[in-house]
Amino acid sequence: MLEEMRKKALEGGGEERIKKQHEKGKLTARERIGKLLDEGTFVELGMFGESRATEFGMDKKRYPGDGVITGYGTIDGRLVFVYAQDFTVLGGSLGELQAEKIARVLDLAMKNGAPVIGINDSGGARIQEGVDSLKGYGEIFFRNTSASGVVPQIAVIMGPSAGGAVYSPAIMDFVIMVDKTAHMFITGPQVIKTVTGEEIDFEGLGGAMVHNTKSGNAHLIASNDEEALSLVRKLISYIPQNNIEDPPVIETEDPPERIDYELDSIVPEDPKKSYDVKDIIATVFDRDSFFEIHPLFAENIVVGFARLDGKSVGIVANQPAVYAGVLDINASDKAARFVRFCDAFNIPIITLVDVPGYMPGVAQEHGGIIRHGAKLLYAYSEATVPKITLIMRKAYGGAYIAMGSKHLRADVVYAWPNAEIAVMGPEGAVNIVFRREIAKANEPEQRRKELIDEYRSKFANPYVAAARLYVDDVIYPHETRVKLIQALNMLENKREDRPAKKHGNIPL
Ligand code: HXC
Repeated sequence: MLEEMRKKALEGGGEERIKKQHEKGKLTARERIGKLLDEGTFVELGMFGESRATEFGMDKKRYPGDGVITGYGTIDGRLVFVYAQDFTVLGGSLGELQAEKIARVLDLAMKNGAPVIGINDSGGARIQEGVDSLKGYGEIFFRNTSASGVVPQIAVIMGPSAGGAVYSPAIMDFVIMVDKTAHMFITGPQVIKTVTGEEIDFEGLGGAMVHNTKSGNAHLIASNDEEALSLVRKLISYIPQNNIEDPPVIETEDPPERIDYELDSIVPEDPKKSYDVKDIIATVFDRDSFFEIHPLFAENIVVGFARLDGKSVGIVANQPAVYAGVLDINASDKAARFVRFCDAFNIPIITLVDVPGYMPGVAQEHGGIIRHGAKLLYAYSEATVPKITLIMRKAYGGAYIAMGSKHLRADVVYAWPNAEIAVMGPEGAVNIVFRREIAKANEPEQRRKELIDEYRSKFANPYVAAARLYVDDVIYPHETRVKLIQALNMLENKREDRPAKKHGNIPL
């Protein structure tokens, strides 16, 4: 009997539907779990769980497991909990029992302090189960929220994620989508056509590219299921099991004392010229250790994990190659969320600054740059993990403060000799402060130039800030790696508290 029961459970929705799943370029739920976890480590829970629904002929559509495979296993020997919706069973739709199985996994992950990986492939709330499906989602959302900041939660979208199904991934820490087969939307193309008259297909509405580039709902894109699962494994290697443990340290052959003279010329002296901050990241951090998160969204800021002498760090870096690295609404959202993840999970934050300011413009002002920009100030101020900041070139105005400044409690702030720390750039400042004087001058353009030079030499350098201890030291670019590792080691046992409270009220 047991063997028969197991065989039936392993069949999922049957051969025909499995064939269809494969034809779409998708793996089955079990195949996905097999590829995600270390070989042979999966332990299944709730294999025989079955829906007790009877309405709409559901008493004749019972499948052991109820459309989701749940359990635990290891990634690189570390415990993780996992669930994978099985699209071959009632379209992976979520009813009462499926929800209960997912909730159990979330509860176990919390109790045992281990990450949760949710593989989504579902038509959303199981229509036949009505309000019980909605209750199921509510129970999951509640647990995702309780687990937020306690254990890492990673959502992988490998098929439809429709209706309420989108909100569990949205509460989780990272969302990875598979190109072409994953679609996330709260209402589909048909409903949209009826309500707003807009015509759009699944891909254009909620495909992986849309959510990676436009909405920012997804953090990573993969070209197929295998790649998405290997991204999860990679991500897990940078993060701790839970909020009271440290991330794993990975042995590196890259020497901590490595000096890189190419850094001395990487940043153009002309402040109007751009460069790719990822070249700096690739040079300073452990070789090939940079793992960019959100690479296609708000590219004017770069965030991601890397290692310094084997230790995980989170990087937040302005990207001068895109919109001069300005902070806009999306960049603020992206960076603030990343800073909060790092802070919740004991990952030191290294901030690389070259920022001309917050983005001017009516669209930005009306879109709420004040509210969104405030998130970044809030996230940095709130963070108590080690915070190390390097000012590479421009650090102007509010953006100077926001990008991990001393005033928001950075532990160590370094600046390169060409750094310019000021309320605004020399041109803008001179045009405001000396407007009348320039207008009255015999040769206004000549006078403007003189004043700009004067301003630059007086204020646009790191020494004024260093004299006031807003910058701890001015360092040569080539010694950056050494200095960052020294600071990181010094801060290894850092403890810092904020006032006890129920929770803060981050501007949302
Ligand atoms: C019950 C469902 C289902 C659902 C799909 N199925 N979605 N069963 N409830 N929500 C079933 C289908 O009846 C079918 O069963 C099987 O799954 C496969 O579906 P197909 O439509 O044949 O597959 P495909 O053509 O690939 O289309 C997939 C799909 C489509 C795009 C996901 O099924 C679809 O649009 N489903 C509804 C999506 C949706 O609107 N969900 C929102 C629900 S409301 P058979 O037996 O024929 O194989 C919601 C609100 C919750 O989620 C709010 C919580 C806060």
